[in-house]
Amino acid sequence: MPNQNTSLHCTFLLLILHVLLNAAPMRCKSTIEPCSNNGSCNALLGYTLYTDLKVSEVASLFQIDPMALLTANAIDISYPDVEHHILPSKLFLKVPITCSCVDGIRKSVSTHYRTRPSDNLSSIANSIYGGLVSPDQLREANSIADPSVLDVGQNLLVPLPCTCFNESDNSLPSIYLSYVVQPIDTLAAIAARYFTTLTDLMNVNDMGTTTISDGDILAVPIPACASKFPNYASDFGLLVPNGSYTIAAGHCVQCSCGPRDLNLYCVPSSLAVSCSSMQCKSSNLMLGNVTVHQSSSGCKVTSCNYDGFVSDTIITTLSLSLQPRCPGSQHLPPLIPPPTSVTKESVFAIAPSPLLLPSSSSSPLLSSLPSEGTVRTAPESSVMPATGSFPRFSHTNGPDSRIASAAPSLVNPLPLMFTFMLLLIKLMIPVAL
Ligand SMILES: *[C@@H]1O[C@H](CO)[C@@H](O)[C@H](O)[C@H]1NC(C)=O
Ligand SMILES: *[C@@H]1O[C@H](CO)[C@@H](O)[C@H](O)[C@H]1NC(C)=O
Ligand SMILES: *[C@@H]1O[C@H](CO)[C@@H](O)[C@H](O)[C@H]1NC(C)=O
Ligand SMILES: *[C@@H]1O[C@H](CO)[C@@H](O)[C@H](O)[C@H]1NC(C)=O
Ligand SMILES: *[C@@H]1O[C@H](CO)[C@@H](O)[C@H](O)[C@H]1NC(C)=O
Repeated sequence: MPNQNTSLHCTFLLLILHVLLNAAPMRCKSTIEPCSNNGSCNALLGYTLYTDLKVSEVASLFQIDPMALLTANAIDISYPDVEHHILPSKLFLKVPITCSCVDGIRKSVSTHYRTRPSDNLSSIANSIYGGLVSPDQLREANSIADPSVLDVGQNLLVPLPCTCFNESDNSLPSIYLSYVVQPIDTLAAIAARYFTTLTDLMNVNDMGTTTISDGDILAVPIPACASKFPNYASDFGLLVPNGSYTIAAGHCVQCSCGPRDLNLYCVPSSLAVSCSSMQCKSSNLMLGNVTVHQSSSGCKVTSCNYDGFVSDTIITTLSLSLQPRCPGSQHLPPLIPPPTSVTKESVFAIAPSPLLLPSSSSSPLLSSLPSEGTVRTAPESSVMPATGSFPRFSHTNGPDSRIASAAPSLVNPLPLMFTFMLLLIKLMIPVAL
């Protein structure tokens, strides 16, 4: 319920603008990445549970492997019957998805939703998918002529926002999280929560100001630990975002991202599966083992490392190095038990109020409205805001002048009243509301 209101709020304001400007349908701002090739990449969605759901139910909502959902959130997969564990409503999760290139822009198109009797486009978009998609995007993606008639059991494509930006940020390996802005969010708080800077977030999302609105979708770079596997390994290019781990090599190997040094640490996984040998050749070390020998010339460090999965074989490499000082014990991120309640850290926002046009709906709020799409080619690129509706975009320079110039007229109460009425019709909200 709160999530639903959150995104409606933004849709609502943008629809006012839309009607006033008589322009193409407008939406909350979301960062759009143009792309040209067929290659897909990895991305994350920031998703808040709309109700209590089993791990397997959340996974099937996005058609992903439950194991991947758990590891992306540092949840211990060795916990008994973890796939059937019930996750609490309002829990915030990172959902790993594949990001494709469709019609020249990055988006995820592998998610489908089968409609149930009580569904409508806004409940699917704003509640079930937590504002990651808008009712309009659902309508367009599925060529729905009349949104008031949804057949039960209809299989809807749910286009989801994602960006990859070459899986790097400031030339460091990164995975991008599509984050839906919640009413209590500030850009500074989001930056702090994801251990990044305000400047970095503004660059990544091509923002001229720190203003954000409920329902906007930001691309948040999460630093990641990169692997150096040979290109013939089946898991070549493995990238593990900070705060998570991954299961590789046919469930045999578990690779974590060291939160301090961003080094990838791989050890035998906790799952009981039959695996090829994980011992390093000509040594008695197992995958992940490290030995240190202090000598007069320094510290001799020997480690047995994972080097990729090749033809169903776990490749291990013994590495020897002489370091000035012996390294301390490895700092691996702690795995957490499956959450049973929502803590301050796991819930990022609580929507405070029902859908209402804010009484102070004049300048401060409306002038802060961002354009509906921002195009960015690379983290270092200059500002290229877009006009037109997602997924189409055109290149213009400077801030979106249409919106900037339209803002003052919104102070006039008459058009506001008029658009409010139109809006009620558009959203099919009972006037009694
Ligand atoms: C992308 O893939 C489609 C078919 O999957 C193909 O027709 C098209 O030529 C490919 N485009 C590029 C740029 O490789
Ligand atoms: C959509 O469904 C939700 C919950 O099922 C309901 O609260 C809302 O009024 C419905 N909206 C429309 C436009 O029918
Ligand atoms: C993408 O990143 C890789 C390294 O992560 C780099 O070698 C390559 O030049 C980058 N490509 C572009 C187009 O920035
Ligand atoms: C990685 O995440 C941890 C918390 O999970 C944080 O303390 C650390 O600063 C992060 N590292 C980087 C490089 O962002
Ligand atoms: C080597 O690694 C194995 C598997 O992770 C572990 O059980 C064992 O305790 C390690 N031995 C040493 C000496 O670290």
